[in-house]
Amino acid sequence: MRVFVTGASGWIGSAVVPELIGAGHQVVGLARSDASADALTAAGAEVVRGTLDDLDVLRRAAADSDGVVHLAFKHDIAFSGDFKGAGEADRRAVEVIGEALAGSGRPFTIASGTPSIPGRVATERDGHDPDPAAAARGDAQHVRAATAELTLSLAARQVRSSVVRLAPTNHGEGDNGFVPALIGIARAKGVSGYIGDGANRWSAAHRLDSARLFRLALENAPAGSTLHAVAEEGLPVRDLAEVIGRQLGLPVESVAAADADAHFSWLAGPLAANRAASSVLTRELLGWRPDRPGLVEDLEQGHYFK
Ligand SMILES: NC(=O)c1ccc[n+]([C@@H]2O[C@H](COP(=O)([O-])OP(=O)(O)OC[C@H]3O[C@@H](n4cnc5c(N)ncnc54)[C@H](OP(=O)(O)O)[C@@H]3O)[C@@H](O)[C@H]2O)c1
Repeated sequence: MRVFVTGASGWIGSAVVPELIGAGHQVVGLARSDASADALTAAGAEVVRGTLDDLDVLRRAAADSDGVVHLAFKHDIAFSGDFKGAGEADRRAVEVIGEALAGSGRPFTIASGTPSIPGRVATERDGHDPDPAAAARGDAQHVRAATAELTLSLAARQVRSSVVRLAPTNHGEGDNGFVPALIGIARAKGVSGYIGDGANRWSAAHRLDSARLFRLALENAPAGSTLHAVAEEGLPVRDLAEVIGRQLGLPVESVAAADADAHFSWLAGPLAANRAASSVLTRELLGWRPDRPGLVEDLEQGHYFK
């Protein structure tokens, strides 16, 4: 397949590109800078220059493809207070790509996040269920859920659409996500902390396993599928803090919920959430078998602490 990939130069995308090429697909990656274009060329992909706001570029590249994997997201503005703006750009991109693919039966796979459900494990059957008012306020989970629902609705317009919900940590060498941020806070504070009893759990996957799932989704997911890129159902956040404390030689301590914002800053919300999730249905549907190291094993290898 000739596959148009947005976000091809990112953490997940730079694993998806070789996964697709290794399976015999041709990749056309969206690049907004010379550095990203060079990285894509070096990885063996074709480059189309543009940003998420260049809707004509997205429309044309999608129309010229046999399928699309959409991974780009404006994390820069999302994490500096404008999640709503990032979500709106994401939604517009999904709309134009969906228009370009409508009626074709071609696959369209996007990235989203596993839902946070207090007290239980989320499954693929848990709907995206966006609350429109919360999405309009820029609440991250509802913004992403609304775009996921829009993507799945394209199944009714003969697009083989699917949503891959990613775990909060997609770990591996070079990770710059939540786990390195938590390590940075531990270093700065001199203590490896967790909130309350730290019993809430985070699911995890190695990014190379997640990349394989994107390929399988593109190749085989039935229209309207929600899939979970979850290799490990849930690690208590306290256990994560313990590995970090051991590796850094720091004490491991609970932080009271009332002090969490001051201690963890923007990470307080994600760190307090229960993000345990299952991938039983995804594995059954697509034969996905994650086989890379788990989160603790990856942390014990030491590369997160150099
Ligand atoms: N990583 C995780 O653990 C995780 C967990 C849950 C959900 N997700 C979701 O999975 C997707 C991929 O995440 P990631 O970790 O790979 O993110 P990332 O490393 O931040 O990569 C983001 C990608 O989007 C591109 N991009 C950003 N703004 C753009 C714009 N205005 N126009 C065009 N391209 C733009 C970036 O291009 P440049 O290379 O030029 O910056 C990069 O290729 C995102 O939707 C993310 O929210 C990730």
